[in-house]
Amino acid sequence: SALQEFDLIFFGGTGDLAMRKLLPALYNRFRDSQHTQGWRIIGVARQDLSREQYLNLVSENCRQFIPGGDFDERAWTAFTAHLEYLRLDGTQPEGYAELARRLQNSNDRVRVFYLSTAASLFAQICTNLAANQLVTPQTRVVLEKPLGRDRASSYEINEAVAKIFEERQIYRIDHYLGKETVQNLIALRFGNAIFEPLWRRSNVQDVQITLSETVGVEGRGDYYDRYGALRDMVQNHLLQLLCILAMEPPSSIDPDAVRDEKLKVLRALRPITLDCIKAKTVRGQYRAGAIDGAAVRGYLEEADIPPDSHTETFVAIKAELDNWRWSGVPFYLRTGKRMQERMAEIVVNFRPVPHAILPTSASEGNRLVIRLQPDEEVRLYLMVKVPGAEMKVRPVDLNLDFKQEFKTRQWDAYERLLMDVILGKLTLFMRRDELDAAWRWIDPIRDGWDALGEPPKSYAAGTWGPTASNTLITRDGNTWREDG
Ligand code: BG6
Repeated sequence: SALQEFDLIFFGGTGDLAMRKLLPALYNRFRDSQHTQGWRIIGVARQDLSREQYLNLVSENCRQFIPGGDFDERAWTAFTAHLEYLRLDGTQPEGYAELARRLQNSNDRVRVFYLSTAASLFAQICTNLAANQLVTPQTRVVLEKPLGRDRASSYEINEAVAKIFEERQIYRIDHYLGKETVQNLIALRFGNAIFEPLWRRSNVQDVQITLSETVGVEGRGDYYDRYGALRDMVQNHLLQLLCILAMEPPSSIDPDAVRDEKLKVLRALRPITLDCIKAKTVRGQYRAGAIDGAAVRGYLEEADIPPDSHTETFVAIKAELDNWRWSGVPFYLRTGKRMQERMAEIVVNFRPVPHAILPTSASEGNRLVIRLQPDEEVRLYLMVKVPGAEMKVRPVDLNLDFKQEFKTRQWDAYERLLMDVILGKLTLFMRRDELDAAWRWIDPIRDGWDALGEPPKSYAAGTWGPTASNTLITRDGNTWREDG
């Protein structure tokens, strides 16, 4: 369906995110004809570029991030006709007058300011926008992560933005929530009656969420070293997945109904304090190794990384929820760079049958695997009999093959989320109190590590992380799925 008219202004217009994700996402929506006219995209950055130079830059860069089959020269040209450039230093008041001039005739349209700059600039940008009367009732602001380095800095950023924008205008983006399988997790849980009775401590033994990457720091050493995996991945993506998985059924799909339930999950997370930090967390840092047979260097040898850095590139955590539904069920969270495989998956391990009458592996429980990456899959493992004379059973999966079933192209997370911003749908964006609750749980982990003063455990690139990550889970009698 056609969209309403809009102006999308993104700060950080020459940045990595714009080139890799935002512009390709908008192009794909354009190509699928979701919006054809009455809209405009203005890239804003400090470089002195003419519109033509900007378009060349965008064309060169974006091409690499649009899969071959999706790139169509004519559609691309038509798309870029909507693209403008504005040279502006977001922190300086000068230059906003020109932005105001460009937007002067479109005060009634949906207006989106997408801030994909360092969060430390958000306050000044918002102030400048307001000072130039650029914030209309139809204006929305999108905030990219990381929103702070801890609870206090996140509070400051949110406080500054809240001076200018109302909460209903603020879209805190976590692109994991835009991934197709995350939507499917919602569909699975709330579109089927059969899962709900099982979705609780009496039937679930443990839950595992793994976000593993094979890439290293990819030229973002300076940023990464100041943040590390806990802030880069756990505070946002992993906790958001945990929320969707563990929340109570909301009364509707409305933004606040869903976000209220997610908030309750975050608030139910048992704090990880210094006395249990060693038992419940593992942090690691990759050393040199090999990915798919190719040698790669270690974290400390990467560009912009201090040679004595203690920043973690891997984290495993045993999280627990102190509530009626999940009491006693461990949620094992794990993420890392330079791991053996690129994969994002959620595993729900159900308890074994109460009384085993069948031999061998029959004591294993059923398992639900929800895979976000690299392919989208949902598999439910059931015990079946192996053909033959003997009564031997083993797990076989019922596999929902989305590619086979739905032959349409899959949307990238940013396509969905950008369209949701334009349509004013807040459900998949984080509310301020959620973010605060997430930091409230993360900060003590960070502090605990600092107090311990131990360096992260080393793991070879191309493996599943430090061996301590296995101990974290085998201690409870469980195993990570790829070992199981
Ligand atoms: C980003 C992190 O938020 O997510 C990156 O900053 C990480 O470090 C990326 O690589 C992973 O996203 P995806 O969609 O590729 O799994």
